[in-house]
Amino acid sequence: MLVFLYLEKKKMSVLKLMEWRYATKIFDPEKIVPQEDIEYLKKCIRLTPSSYGLQPYKIQIITDADTKKKLLPYSYNQRQVVEASHLFVFANFTEISDEYLEYFYRLKAKVQGKKFEDYIPYMKKVSAFIKSLSPEKLLEYTALQTYMALETLLIAAPEKQIDTCAIGGFMPDKYNEILGYPQKNLNACVVAAVGYRSPEDQNQYLPKFRIPEEDLFF
Ligand SMILES: Cc1cc2nc3c(=O)[nH]c(=O)nc-3n(C[C@H](O)[C@H](O)[C@H](O)COP(=O)(O)O)c2cc1C
Repeated sequence: MLVFLYLEKKKMSVLKLMEWRYATKIFDPEKIVPQEDIEYLKKCIRLTPSSYGLQPYKIQIITDADTKKKLLPYSYNQRQVVEASHLFVFANFTEISDEYLEYFYRLKAKVQGKKFEDYIPYMKKVSAFIKSLSPEKLLEYTALQTYMALETLLIAAPEKQIDTCAIGGFMPDKYNEILGYPQKNLNACVVAAVGYRSPEDQNQYLPKFRIPEEDLFF
């Protein structure tokens, strides 16, 4: 009982975890995130909510040093790309095809013990909505969902004392080319470096800065 109470007390609130995290600029390149922690983060990211639940993105997890090196110049030489243990590339769908919708609703029906046929009228409505979007609007729509998945990672990682840096400063076209995304109807949307902070990173010692609540909420 005492051990349980101690562990409960040690559990950090989301608020404390948010205070602990920061955009890590210098990672310790020697420290590798264990696979079981990566699996935990994957489980969290998978549960991210999305519009219609469609999850219109895929996430590539890169550990290969050569690939990271290739991406570095197209990440404005941000060293996190090569020094962090894992690089998560969040890629949004460039199209949401009727085939995807059918795959999605067939799977949903199976998991929830329902008939696929019952989903068809709703699926058609979703399809009509998707088709009403211009290619640019669709890309914007899928990108918005993709950022939510990124946020899950940023919030979940601190629970395992894992550091992250969201990276929007990169060249999507070059990432797409290197990672072969156009053939997969994907677009590099946002990136996150995942690993452990180096004591050299001075940013971790700075007080957290945010606009005060009174200026943020009304
Ligand atoms: C979508 C997005 C893109 C970002 N891109 C970069 C980036 O390219 N390089 C970087 O060092 N930090 C990047 N950041 C980190 C922000 O600069 C950082 O989160 C912000 O300044 C607040 O600081 P904190 O996260 O340390 O509290 C990005 C953050 C977000 C959410």
